[in-house]
Amino acid sequence: MAGIRLQKLRKSFGQYVAVADFDLEVADGQFVVLLGPSGCGKTTTLNCIAGLEQPTSGRILFGDLDVTELPPHARNIAMVFQSALLYPHLTARANIELSLRHSGMTADQVRQRVQDVVVMLRVDQMLDKKPSALSGGERQRVALAKALVREPTVFLMDEPFSALDAALRTSLRAELVHLQKTLNVTTIFVTHDQVEAMTMGDMIVVMDEGRVEQVGTPDEIYNVPQTRFVAGFIGSPPMNFFEGSIQAEGGELRFRTGETTFAIPQTRRDSVEKANNVTAVGLRPQHLHIAETVGEGAINVIVYAVERLGKETVIILNDDAGVTFRVLTDPGFKAAVGDRLVIAPDMEHAHFF
Ligand SMILES: Nc1ncnc2c1ncn2[C@@H]1O[C@H](COP(=O)(O)OP(=O)(O)O)[C@@H](O)[C@H]1O
Ligand SMILES: [Mg+2]
Repeated sequence: MAGIRLQKLRKSFGQYVAVADFDLEVADGQFVVLLGPSGCGKTTTLNCIAGLEQPTSGRILFGDLDVTELPPHARNIAMVFQSALLYPHLTARANIELSLRHSGMTADQVRQRVQDVVVMLRVDQMLDKKPSALSGGERQRVALAKALVREPTVFLMDEPFSALDAALRTSLRAELVHLQKTLNVTTIFVTHDQVEAMTMGDMIVVMDEGRVEQVGTPDEIYNVPQTRFVAGFIGSPPMNFFEGSIQAEGGELRFRTGETTFAIPQTRRDSVEKANNVTAVGLRPQHLHIAETVGEGAINVIVYAVERLGKETVIILNDDAGVTFRVLTDPGFKAAVGDRLVIAPDMEHAHFF
Protein backbone atom coordinates (compact mmCIF):
# COMPACT_ATOMS: atom_id res chain seq x y z
CA MET A 1 0.00 0.00 0.00
CA ALA A 2 1.04 3.56 -0.51
CA GLY A 3 -0.03 7.15 -0.41
CA ILE A 4 -0.45 9.15 -3.60
CA ARG A 5 1.12 12.44 -4.55
CA LEU A 6 0.15 14.63 -7.47
CA GLN A 7 2.70 17.31 -8.27
CA LYS A 8 1.60 20.11 -10.58
CA LEU A 9 -0.47 17.64 -12.59
CA ARG A 10 -1.71 19.24 -15.78
CA LYS A 11 -3.73 17.83 -18.66
CA SER A 12 -4.63 19.81 -21.77
CA PHE A 13 -6.67 18.71 -24.75
CA GLY A 14 -5.34 21.01 -27.49
CA GLN A 15 -5.87 24.56 -26.16
CA TYR A 16 -8.29 23.39 -23.48
CA VAL A 17 -6.87 22.92 -19.98
CA ALA A 18 -8.96 20.17 -18.32
CA VAL A 19 -6.75 19.87 -15.21
CA ALA A 20 -4.58 22.81 -14.14
CA ASP A 21 -1.51 22.35 -11.93
CA PHE A 22 -3.15 19.99 -9.48
CA ASP A 23 -1.23 19.42 -6.23
CA LEU A 24 -2.49 16.80 -3.82
CA GLU A 25 -1.17 14.52 -1.08
CA VAL A 26 -3.21 11.48 -0.19
CA ALA A 27 -1.99 9.63 2.92
CA ASP A 28 -1.60 5.86 2.92
CA GLY A 29 -4.99 4.28 3.62
CA GLN A 30 -6.91 7.52 3.22
CA PHE A 31 -10.29 7.82 1.48
CA VAL A 32 -10.20 10.97 -0.66
CA VAL A 33 -13.14 12.27 -2.68
CA LEU A 34 -12.77 14.48 -5.76
CA LEU A 35 -15.94 16.56 -5.81
CA GLY A 36 -17.10 19.08 -8.37
CA PRO A 37 -19.67 19.84 -11.05
CA SER A 38 -19.79 17.94 -14.32
CA GLY A 39 -16.89 18.87 -16.61
CA CYS A 40 -14.58 20.17 -13.85
CA GLY A 41 -11.88 17.58 -14.61
CA LYS A 42 -12.51 14.80 -12.08
CA THR A 43 -12.44 11.90 -14.56
CA THR A 44 -9.43 13.32 -16.36
CA THR A 45 -7.52 13.55 -13.05
CA LEU A 46 -8.50 9.98 -12.11
CA ASN A 47 -7.56 8.69 -15.56
CA CYS A 48 -4.12 10.28 -15.22
CA ILE A 49 -3.65 8.53 -11.86
CA ALA A 50 -4.75 5.25 -13.45
CA GLY A 51 -2.46 5.70 -16.45
CA LEU A 52 -5.37 5.82 -18.90
CA GLU A 53 -4.40 9.39 -19.84
CA GLN A 54 -0.86 10.73 -20.17
CA PRO A 55 -0.48 14.04 -18.26
CA THR A 56 0.70 17.05 -20.25
CA SER A 57 3.04 17.90 -17.37
CA GLY A 58 3.55 17.17 -13.68
CA ARG A 59 4.32 13.98 -11.75
CA ILE A 60 2.31 11.23 -10.10
CA LEU A 61 3.86 9.21 -7.25
CA PHE A 62 2.61 6.12 -5.43
CA GLY A 63 4.63 6.12 -2.21
CA ASP A 64 8.15 6.97 -3.43
CA LEU A 65 7.60 5.37 -6.82
CA ASP A 66 7.16 7.78 -9.74
CA VAL A 67 4.47 6.13 -11.87
CA THR A 68 3.96 9.01 -14.33
CA GLU A 69 5.38 7.03 -17.26
CA LEU A 70 4.17 3.58 -16.20
CA PRO A 71 1.40 1.85 -18.16
CA PRO A 72 -1.84 1.13 -16.25
CA HIS A 73 -1.11 -2.57 -15.68
CA ALA A 74 2.21 -1.75 -13.98
CA ARG A 75 0.56 0.54 -11.39
CA ASN A 76 -1.34 -2.08 -9.39
CA ILE A 77 -4.51 -0.03 -9.35
CA ALA A 78 -8.10 -1.23 -9.44
CA MET A 79 -10.74 0.95 -11.00
CA VAL A 80 -14.53 0.93 -10.81
CA PHE A 81 -16.62 2.96 -13.23
CA GLN A 82 -20.15 4.34 -13.31
CA SER A 83 -21.49 1.23 -15.01
CA ALA A 84 -20.02 -2.10 -14.00
CA LEU A 85 -17.61 -3.38 -16.64
CA LEU A 86 -18.47 -7.07 -16.66
CA TYR A 87 -18.33 -9.61 -19.48
CA PRO A 88 -21.99 -10.46 -20.24
CA HIS A 89 -21.29 -14.06 -21.31
CA LEU A 90 -19.40 -14.93 -18.10
CA THR A 91 -20.83 -15.67 -14.65
CA ALA A 92 -20.17 -13.30 -11.76
CA ARG A 93 -17.57 -15.76 -10.43
CA ALA A 94 -15.75 -16.00 -13.77
CA ASN A 95 -15.76 -12.21 -14.06
CA ILE A 96 -14.21 -11.83 -10.61
CA GLU A 97 -11.66 -14.62 -11.17
CA LEU A 98 -10.50 -12.96 -14.40
CA SER A 99 -8.78 -10.31 -12.27
CA LEU A 100 -6.45 -12.99 -10.87
CA ARG A 101 -5.58 -14.78 -14.10
CA HIS A 102 -2.01 -13.46 -14.28
CA SER A 103 -1.44 -13.50 -10.53
CA GLY A 104 0.43 -16.82 -10.46
CA MET A 105 -1.93 -18.10 -7.77
CA THR A 106 -3.09 -21.72 -7.75
CA ALA A 107 -6.75 -22.52 -8.42
CA ASP A 108 -7.25 -23.15 -4.70
CA GLN A 109 -5.69 -19.84 -3.74
CA VAL A 110 -7.87 -18.03 -6.29
CA ARG A 111 -10.97 -19.75 -4.92
CA GLN A 112 -10.08 -18.77 -1.35
CA ARG A 113 -9.32 -15.14 -2.19
CA VAL A 114 -12.54 -14.79 -4.18
CA GLN A 115 -14.51 -16.42 -1.37
CA ASP A 116 -13.21 -13.93 1.22
CA VAL A 117 -14.07 -10.92 -0.91
CA VAL A 118 -17.49 -12.06 -2.12
CA VAL A 119 -18.62 -12.78 1.45
CA MET A 120 -17.50 -9.30 2.46
CA LEU A 121 -19.46 -7.76 -0.42
CA ARG A 122 -22.44 -10.07 0.04
CA VAL A 123 -22.40 -11.41 -3.51
CA ASP A 124 -21.53 -15.00 -2.50
CA GLN A 125 -25.07 -16.19 -3.23
CA MET A 126 -25.11 -14.98 -6.83
CA LEU A 127 -21.77 -16.14 -8.21
CA ASP A 128 -23.29 -18.48 -10.79
CA LYS A 129 -25.47 -15.80 -12.36
CA LYS A 130 -24.59 -13.85 -15.47
CA PRO A 131 -24.58 -10.03 -15.22
CA SER A 132 -27.93 -9.75 -17.03
CA ALA A 133 -29.56 -11.74 -14.20
CA LEU A 134 -28.24 -9.34 -11.54
CA SER A 135 -29.77 -6.05 -10.37
CA GLY A 136 -27.86 -2.79 -10.81
CA GLY A 137 -26.66 -2.85 -7.21
CA GLU A 138 -25.57 -6.49 -7.44
CA ARG A 139 -23.66 -5.81 -10.66
CA GLN A 140 -21.87 -2.89 -9.02
CA ARG A 141 -21.00 -5.08 -6.00
CA VAL A 142 -19.57 -7.73 -8.34
CA ALA A 143 -17.53 -5.02 -10.05
CA LEU A 144 -16.22 -3.94 -6.62
CA ALA A 145 -15.34 -7.57 -5.83
CA LYS A 146 -13.54 -7.90 -9.16
CA ALA A 147 -11.51 -4.81 -8.31
CA LEU A 148 -10.78 -5.80 -4.70
CA VAL A 149 -9.63 -9.40 -5.18
CA ARG A 150 -6.45 -8.10 -6.75
CA GLU A 151 -5.52 -6.38 -3.48
CA PRO A 152 -4.56 -3.22 -5.33
CA THR A 153 -2.21 -0.55 -4.02
CA VAL A 154 -4.73 2.09 -4.98
CA PHE A 155 -8.47 1.90 -5.45
CA LEU A 156 -9.95 4.38 -7.98
CA MET A 157 -13.68 4.90 -8.40
CA ASP A 158 -15.43 7.13 -10.91
CA GLU A 159 -19.03 7.84 -9.84
CA PRO A 160 -19.67 4.13 -9.18
CA PHE A 161 -23.09 4.66 -7.60
CA SER A 162 -24.53 7.38 -9.82
CA ALA A 163 -26.63 4.99 -11.94
CA LEU A 164 -28.26 3.40 -8.88
CA ASP A 165 -31.43 4.38 -7.04
CA ALA A 166 -31.26 6.47 -3.85
CA ALA A 167 -31.86 3.68 -1.33
CA LEU A 168 -29.20 1.47 -2.88
CA ARG A 169 -26.73 4.35 -3.03
CA THR A 170 -27.21 4.97 0.68
CA SER A 171 -26.56 1.36 1.64
CA LEU A 172 -23.60 0.90 -0.73
CA ARG A 173 -22.06 4.12 0.61
CA ALA A 174 -21.88 2.71 4.12
CA GLU A 175 -20.68 -0.69 2.86
CA LEU A 176 -17.88 0.83 0.83
CA VAL A 177 -16.67 3.04 3.69
CA HIS A 178 -16.75 0.05 6.05
CA LEU A 179 -14.82 -2.06 3.56
CA GLN A 180 -12.27 0.64 2.86
CA LYS A 181 -11.62 1.18 6.57
CA THR A 182 -11.30 -2.59 7.08
CA LEU A 183 -8.88 -3.12 4.17
CA ASN A 184 -7.12 0.23 4.51
CA VAL A 185 -6.56 0.61 0.76
CA THR A 186 -5.75 4.16 -0.36
CA THR A 187 -8.86 5.21 -2.27
CA ILE A 188 -9.77 8.06 -4.59
CA PHE A 189 -13.49 8.35 -5.22
CA VAL A 190 -14.96 10.75 -7.80
CA THR A 191 -18.44 12.19 -7.48
CA HIS A 192 -20.49 15.29 -8.30
CA ASP A 193 -22.78 14.49 -5.34
CA GLN A 194 -21.87 16.50 -2.25
CA VAL A 195 -23.80 14.20 0.08
CA GLU A 196 -21.75 11.25 -1.16
CA ALA A 197 -18.56 13.26 -0.67
CA MET A 198 -19.48 14.47 2.82
CA THR A 199 -20.55 11.05 4.06
CA MET A 200 -17.66 9.02 2.62
CA GLY A 201 -14.50 11.08 2.45
CA ASP A 202 -11.77 11.42 5.08
CA MET A 203 -10.71 14.30 2.88
CA ILE A 204 -12.60 16.15 0.16
CA VAL A 205 -11.02 17.95 -2.79
CA VAL A 206 -13.51 20.46 -4.18
CA MET A 207 -12.76 21.20 -7.84
CA ASP A 208 -14.06 23.75 -10.32
CA GLU A 209 -12.94 24.30 -13.91
CA GLY A 210 -9.88 22.07 -13.61
CA ARG A 211 -8.65 23.73 -10.42
CA VAL A 212 -8.61 22.77 -6.77
CA GLU A 213 -10.87 25.15 -4.84
CA GLN A 214 -10.30 23.66 -1.38
CA VAL A 215 -8.93 20.53 0.26
CA GLY A 216 -10.23 19.65 3.70
CA THR A 217 -12.13 17.29 5.95
CA PRO A 218 -15.93 17.29 5.52
CA ASP A 219 -16.19 19.48 8.66
CA GLU A 220 -13.69 22.02 7.35
CA ILE A 221 -15.31 22.20 3.92
CA TYR A 222 -18.75 22.72 5.44
CA ASN A 223 -17.89 25.03 8.34
CA VAL A 224 -14.99 27.02 6.91
CA PRO A 225 -15.48 27.22 3.14
CA GLN A 226 -12.59 29.21 1.72
CA THR A 227 -14.28 30.35 -1.47
CA ARG A 228 -17.78 31.34 -2.44
CA PHE A 229 -17.85 28.46 -4.89
CA VAL A 230 -17.23 25.92 -2.11
CA ALA A 231 -19.76 27.63 0.16
CA GLY A 232 -22.45 27.45 -2.51
CA PHE A 233 -21.63 23.92 -3.67
CA ILE A 234 -21.57 22.23 -0.24
CA GLY A 235 -24.69 22.01 1.89
CA SER A 236 -28.26 21.03 1.15
CA PRO A 237 -30.40 23.08 1.00
CA PRO A 238 -27.68 25.44 -0.26
CA MET A 239 -26.27 28.54 1.46
CA ASN A 240 -28.01 31.90 0.92
CA PHE A 241 -26.00 34.80 -0.43
CA PHE A 242 -26.59 38.51 0.13
CA GLU A 243 -24.74 40.89 -2.20
CA GLY A 244 -23.49 44.16 -0.77
CA SER A 245 -20.60 45.86 0.98
CA ILE A 246 -19.18 46.67 4.41
CA GLN A 247 -19.81 50.06 6.03
CA ALA A 248 -17.79 51.28 9.00
CA GLU A 249 -19.46 53.93 11.17
CA GLY A 250 -18.32 55.09 14.59
CA GLY A 251 -16.50 51.85 15.32
CA GLU A 252 -19.46 49.70 14.25
CA LEU A 253 -19.33 47.43 11.22
CA ARG A 254 -22.40 46.84 9.11
CA PHE A 255 -23.07 44.96 5.89
CA ARG A 256 -25.33 46.88 3.55
CA THR A 257 -27.46 44.79 1.17
CA GLY A 258 -30.21 46.47 -0.82
CA GLU A 259 -32.32 48.58 1.56
CA THR A 260 -31.16 46.65 4.63
CA THR A 261 -28.10 46.60 6.85
CA PHE A 262 -26.88 43.68 8.99
CA ALA A 263 -24.98 44.58 12.18
CA ILE A 264 -21.73 42.58 12.34
CA PRO A 265 -20.94 41.27 15.82
CA GLN A 266 -17.51 41.91 17.36
CA THR A 267 -16.79 38.19 17.25
CA ARG A 268 -16.95 38.17 13.42
CA ARG A 269 -14.63 41.11 12.78
CA ASP A 270 -11.65 38.82 12.18
CA SER A 271 -13.54 36.99 9.45
CA VAL A 272 -14.47 40.26 7.78
CA GLU A 273 -10.84 41.36 7.78
CA LYS A 274 -9.64 38.00 6.50
CA ALA A 275 -12.12 38.06 3.61
CA ASN A 276 -10.74 41.47 2.56
CA ASN A 277 -13.10 43.62 0.47
CA VAL A 278 -16.30 41.74 1.27
CA THR A 279 -18.89 41.67 -1.52
CA ALA A 280 -21.25 39.01 -0.16
CA VAL A 281 -22.49 37.49 3.07
CA GLY A 282 -23.36 33.79 3.11
CA LEU A 283 -25.84 32.27 5.56
CA ARG A 284 -26.94 28.65 5.68
CA PRO A 285 -30.73 28.04 5.78
CA GLN A 286 -30.54 27.17 9.50
CA HIS A 287 -28.93 30.56 10.15
CA LEU A 288 -31.80 32.66 8.77
CA HIS A 289 -34.94 32.87 10.83
CA ILE A 290 -38.48 34.10 10.42
CA ALA A 291 -38.62 37.42 12.30
CA GLU A 292 -41.58 38.79 14.26
CA THR A 293 -41.08 42.43 13.36
CA VAL A 294 -39.59 44.54 10.63
CA GLY A 295 -36.47 46.19 12.00
CA GLU A 296 -32.78 46.55 11.22
CA GLY A 297 -31.48 43.48 9.41
CA ALA A 298 -34.94 42.32 8.40
CA ILE A 299 -35.95 41.55 4.84
CA ASN A 300 -39.49 41.42 3.47
CA VAL A 301 -40.11 38.27 1.50
CA ILE A 302 -42.92 36.34 -0.09
CA VAL A 303 -43.28 32.54 0.14
CA TYR A 304 -42.52 30.88 -3.18
CA ALA A 305 -42.68 27.21 -2.12
CA VAL A 306 -42.71 25.05 0.99
CA GLU A 307 -40.78 21.76 1.20
CA ARG A 308 -41.71 19.46 4.08
CA LEU A 309 -38.91 17.03 4.94
CA GLY A 310 -40.47 15.50 8.03
CA LYS A 311 -38.05 16.56 10.74
CA GLU A 312 -37.81 20.07 9.32
CA THR A 313 -39.34 22.31 6.68
CA VAL A 314 -37.55 24.35 4.01
CA ILE A 315 -39.31 27.58 3.09
CA ILE A 316 -38.28 29.04 -0.24
CA LEU A 317 -38.75 32.80 -0.39
CA ASN A 318 -38.28 35.66 -2.83
CA ASP A 319 -37.51 39.26 -1.93
CA ASP A 320 -38.86 42.26 -3.88
CA ALA A 321 -35.96 42.07 -6.32
CA GLY A 322 -36.67 38.38 -7.05
CA VAL A 323 -33.65 37.02 -5.14
CA THR A 324 -34.34 33.56 -3.70
CA PHE A 325 -33.60 32.55 -0.09
CA ARG A 326 -34.07 29.29 1.77
CA VAL A 327 -34.93 29.17 5.47
CA LEU A 328 -35.09 26.06 7.63
CA THR A 329 -37.93 26.01 10.15
CA ASP A 330 -39.31 23.39 12.49
CA PRO A 331 -42.05 21.23 10.96
CA GLY A 332 -44.76 22.96 13.00
CA PHE A 333 -44.28 26.25 11.18
CA LYS A 334 -47.25 27.00 8.92
CA ALA A 335 -46.67 28.89 5.70
CA ALA A 336 -48.44 28.93 2.36
CA VAL A 337 -47.38 30.05 -1.10
CA GLY A 338 -47.94 33.81 -1.39
CA ASP A 339 -47.65 34.55 2.35
CA ARG A 340 -45.68 37.66 3.26
CA LEU A 341 -42.96 37.06 5.87
CA VAL A 342 -39.95 38.81 7.33
CA ILE A 343 -36.59 37.06 7.63
CA ALA A 344 -33.49 38.06 9.59
CA PRO A 345 -29.93 36.71 9.71
CA ASP A 346 -28.08 35.11 12.59
CA MET A 347 -24.87 37.05 11.96
CA GLU A 348 -22.81 35.00 14.44
CA HIS A 349 -22.84 32.33 11.73
CA ALA A 350 -22.26 34.58 8.72
CA HIS A 351 -19.60 33.76 6.13
CA PHE A 352 -17.92 36.68 4.36
CA PHE A 353 -16.78 36.56 0.72
N1 LIG B 1 -10.43 13.27 -24.72
C1 LIG B 1 -10.85 14.53 -24.57
N2 LIG B 1 -10.71 15.44 -25.55
C2 LIG B 1 -11.12 16.72 -25.42
N3 LIG B 1 -11.68 17.22 -24.30
C3 LIG B 1 -11.85 16.38 -23.26
C4 LIG B 1 -11.45 14.99 -23.34
N4 LIG B 1 -11.74 14.41 -22.15
C5 LIG B 1 -12.30 15.38 -21.39
N5 LIG B 1 -12.36 16.55 -22.04
C6 LIG B 1 -12.89 17.82 -21.50
O1 LIG B 1 -12.24 18.09 -20.28
C7 LIG B 1 -13.15 18.62 -19.33
C8 LIG B 1 -13.14 17.78 -18.08
O2 LIG B 1 -13.72 16.52 -18.37
P1 LIG B 1 -13.89 15.39 -17.28
O3 LIG B 1 -12.58 15.15 -16.63
O4 LIG B 1 -14.54 14.24 -17.94
O5 LIG B 1 -14.89 16.08 -16.25
P2 LIG B 1 -15.75 15.46 -15.06
O6 LIG B 1 -15.35 14.02 -14.89
O7 LIG B 1 -15.43 16.31 -13.87
O8 LIG B 1 -17.19 15.60 -15.46
C9 LIG B 1 -14.51 18.66 -20.02
O9 LIG B 1 -14.74 19.97 -20.48
C10 LIG B 1 -14.36 17.69 -21.16
O10 LIG B 1 -15.19 18.06 -22.23
MG1 LIG C 1 -16.53 12.29 -15.01
